[in-house]
Amino acid sequence: MKTPQSPDEILASFKSEAPQAQSLEDATRLKNKYLGRSGLVSSSFDSISSLPPAERKDYGRRLNELKNLLIREIGALETAFSRVAVAPKEDFTLPAVKSFSGGLHPLTQIQDDIVGILRGFGFSVATGPEAELITYNFDMLNTPPWHPARDLTDTFYLDVPARDRLLRTHTSPVQIRVMKSRTPPIRIVAPGRTYRSDKPDATHSPVFMQMEGLYVDRGVTFGDLKGTVLAFYRSLFGRKVNIRLRPGYFPFTEPSAEVDMSCVFCSGKGCRVCKSSGWLELAGAGMVHPNVLKGAAIDPEVFSGWAFGFGLERIAILKYGVDDIRLFYENDIRFLSQF
Ligand code: DAH
Repeated sequence: MKTPQSPDEILASFKSEAPQAQSLEDATRLKNKYLGRSGLVSSSFDSISSLPPAERKDYGRRLNELKNLLIREIGALETAFSRVAVAPKEDFTLPAVKSFSGGLHPLTQIQDDIVGILRGFGFSVATGPEAELITYNFDMLNTPPWHPARDLTDTFYLDVPARDRLLRTHTSPVQIRVMKSRTPPIRIVAPGRTYRSDKPDATHSPVFMQMEGLYVDRGVTFGDLKGTVLAFYRSLFGRKVNIRLRPGYFPFTEPSAEVDMSCVFCSGKGCRVCKSSGWLELAGAGMVHPNVLKGAAIDPEVFSGWAFGFGLERIAILKYGVDDIRLFYENDIRFLSQF
C-alpha cells in the first residue's frame, strides 16, 4: 500500500496549479485531479491504513479540512468561469443599433414654415371645421347657385339631397367665420385640410391642404396684396423670385387675380417644370367682394380687404422636388423618413 501524501503537500501543489486555470475545463481538470474518485484526496484516504494507528486520526482530520477547502476553492473557480462562458460576448467595434425617432410630416413642416413667415407679417392663425356649412363654403362667399364647384361630381356633400353640409372644398369659408365673429382690423391665416371628389393621380388627391390669408381694415389696397404676396414668396423661396398677377375670376373677390411666381428651377428662363413659360401658378387672390363683406356685417363703404388662397402640396412639391402628390398621403415610411 502507498504511503499517503501529506495534506500540506497536496495543498501546496494545488496552490501552485490553481492560478493557471483559465477556463471551466481547467477547473474541471483540477476537480478530477484533487477531488475525483481516484484523485489525490481520495487515494490519500484509501491509504490511511498504512499509517501508524496513532497518526491516523489526526491525518484524517487534516485531510477532511483540506477536502472541504478544495471543494470551496474549485467550486469558486467553476462558478467564475461558467459566468464568463454564458456572458454575451460584446463586440464594441460593431456599428450601433440605429434608433428610430419620429418626425413631422413634410406637409406639416411646410405649413409650419409658412405660418411662421405670415406670423412675422402680423397674421394670426384661424381655424374652421372640415365638415362645413354649405352657406359658408359657397353662399356667403358669393358663389352663384349655378357655379360648377357646387356640382355633386366635384364636392363631397354630407347630406344629399338636403345639401346643408359638405366637406369643405377650400379654406375660404374660414374667412366668413372670422369676419362674422370679429371686427376689423382682421389679419388671419387659415391652414387646413380640404376635399374634392377628384380621382387620385400624380397631380390630384381627394384630400389636400390649403392655406387662406385674409386682411381687412380701413384703406386696404390691391398694392398691399401685391407687396405682401411678394414678400411672402421671397421669404419662402429666396430673394430672387418675382411674382406677377394675372386677371382671374373667383366669386368672392373683385378684382380677382391668379398669382404666378417666377420659376424657381430655371429662374424664369423656361424649363420642364414651368412648361417653358418661366412662371409657376401658385395662388388665387383678390380684393374681398363687397357682397362678402356685407354678408358678414362689415360695411364695404368703410372697410376693404384682400384675400389669397393656395395649395400646400404644390409648394411642397416645388420645395422638395416631389413629382407625385399621392406620396404625401400614402404615408410610406421610406418616403416620409427623407424629410
Ligand atoms: N378658394 C380658392 C380655391 O380653392 C383659392 C382662393 C382664391 C382663395 C382667391 C382666396 C382668393 O381667398 O381670394 O381655388
